[in-house]
Amino acid sequence: MSFDVQAVRADFPILSRQVNGKPLVYLDNGASAQKPRVVIDAITRAYEGEYANVHRGLHYLSNLATDNYERVRGTIARFLNVPEDEIIFTSGSTEALNLVSYGWAAPRLQAGDEIVLSVMEHHANIVPWHFLRERQGVVLRWVEPDPDGSLPPEKVLAAITPRTKMIAVTHMSNVTGTVVDIAGIRAGTDLPLVVDGSQAAVHMPVDLATLGADFYCITGHKLYGPSGSGAIWIRGDRQAEMRPFLGGGDMIRTVGRDVITYNDPPLRFEAGTPGIVNQIGLGAALDYMMGLGMENIATHERALRDYARDRLRSLNWLQVQGDAANKGAIFSMTMQGAHAHDISTILDKKGIAVRAGSHCAMPLMEFMGVTASARASFAMYNTQAEVDALVEGLTFCRELFA
Ligand code: ALA
Repeated sequence: MSFDVQAVRADFPILSRQVNGKPLVYLDNGASAQKPRVVIDAITRAYEGEYANVHRGLHYLSNLATDNYERVRGTIARFLNVPEDEIIFTSGSTEALNLVSYGWAAPRLQAGDEIVLSVMEHHANIVPWHFLRERQGVVLRWVEPDPDGSLPPEKVLAAITPRTKMIAVTHMSNVTGTVVDIAGIRAGTDLPLVVDGSQAAVHMPVDLATLGADFYCITGHKLYGPSGSGAIWIRGDRQAEMRPFLGGGDMIRTVGRDVITYNDPPLRFEAGTPGIVNQIGLGAALDYMMGLGMENIATHERALRDYARDRLRSLNWLQVQGDAANKGAIFSMTMQGAHAHDISTILDKKGIAVRAGSHCAMPLMEFMGVTASARASFAMYNTQAEVDALVEGLTFCRELFA
C-alpha cells in the first residue's frame, strides 16, 4: 500500500489555513499533533447524538456511549498488540506514569532502593520518580546518552545494582528523536521496565507482545487524537501487584462505612467519570493511523528525516543536538548569536511553527550544555517542501543575527 502525503494532508482541515499571511508549516508535532477530520467528526457525533455517562446507566444512550467508549480499549489493544483487559485509560502519559509511581512503585520501594532512568526523559517520566526520592528516600540513578544522543542498552544495564527495583526509559526522545533499544535492555535484565511511548508510538509500529516492557504509556494528543486522552498498557501480573491510585466512582465495587472493595482491573485504575469523548476521538485517530498503515507512516517519516538531516547538516552555522543513527524526525537546533525564542518568533512570521525552550526535558538540556533550543518535530503529514521552508527560514534567521 502506498502513502499519499497530499491525500493525508487533505484529511487535516487545519493544514490548509494560513498563519501570519503564509501557508501553515506545522513542525511542532512533538508538542501536540493536529487532528484529522475523522477525529473531529467522531467527537461531534459523540456529543451531538450519542452522549451520556458510561458504565452507569441502563438507558439507551448510556449503553451506546459505553459501547463506543469501551470499543476504544480494543482499538488501543490492537494498536499495541496486547490483550484488551490490560489497557487502562488515562488522560495522557503524565497520569499514566503517576499511576505507576503511586500504584506500583510507592508501596514496593524502600529508602535506598534504586530506579534507573535516562537523562533523556521528559518531565512526565522524571517527576513521579522524584516524588519517591523526596517522600521515600528512593535513589535515582541517571544514565547519560552517548555524545551523538544514542543510548546503548549496555549503558542502562551497567547502572543496575543489587538495589535497583525498576527501570524507566523513553522509547523515543522528544528532544533528539533518539530511539531506545527497549528489547536490548530487556535482553539483559528481568527488572520491571517502564517505557514512555509518548513520542515513539506515533512514528513507528509498536508491538508490545515482543518489545519486553512491563508498562508502556501512550498519549492521545500526540497521536492525532484529543488532548486529555491516552492509555497505559500494564501486563496483567504487574496490575495484580498494584494498589489503586485515584479513588472515586467506577474503580470501586462496593463502598460501606468501614469497608470498601475494588473493581477488577482495568476499571480498578480508572476513577471517576472518564474522558469519554476524548477516548472516542483517540479511537478514531488510531483507526485512521492503522488504516494508513504504521509501516507506511514510518517509511514516509524516515525519508523526511533523512532529507531534513542532510539539509540541516549542510548549514555549518547550525548545531543540531543529537544525531543517533536510529532516530525519529525530530531536530533540536541552536545557532550562535540567535536565541531559540528569536528563531521561533522569526519562523512564526513565516508561518512555520516550531517549539522553543527546554522541551520539558531539563536534565537532557543540561547534559547537552544548552539552556534552550528550537525544535522542529515532523509528522506523517509533513513534506520535503516543508523541510525546504524550514531551511529557508533558518537561513533568514542566520542572516538577521550574523
Ligand atoms: N512533551 C511535550 C513536548 O515534547 C509537551 O513538547
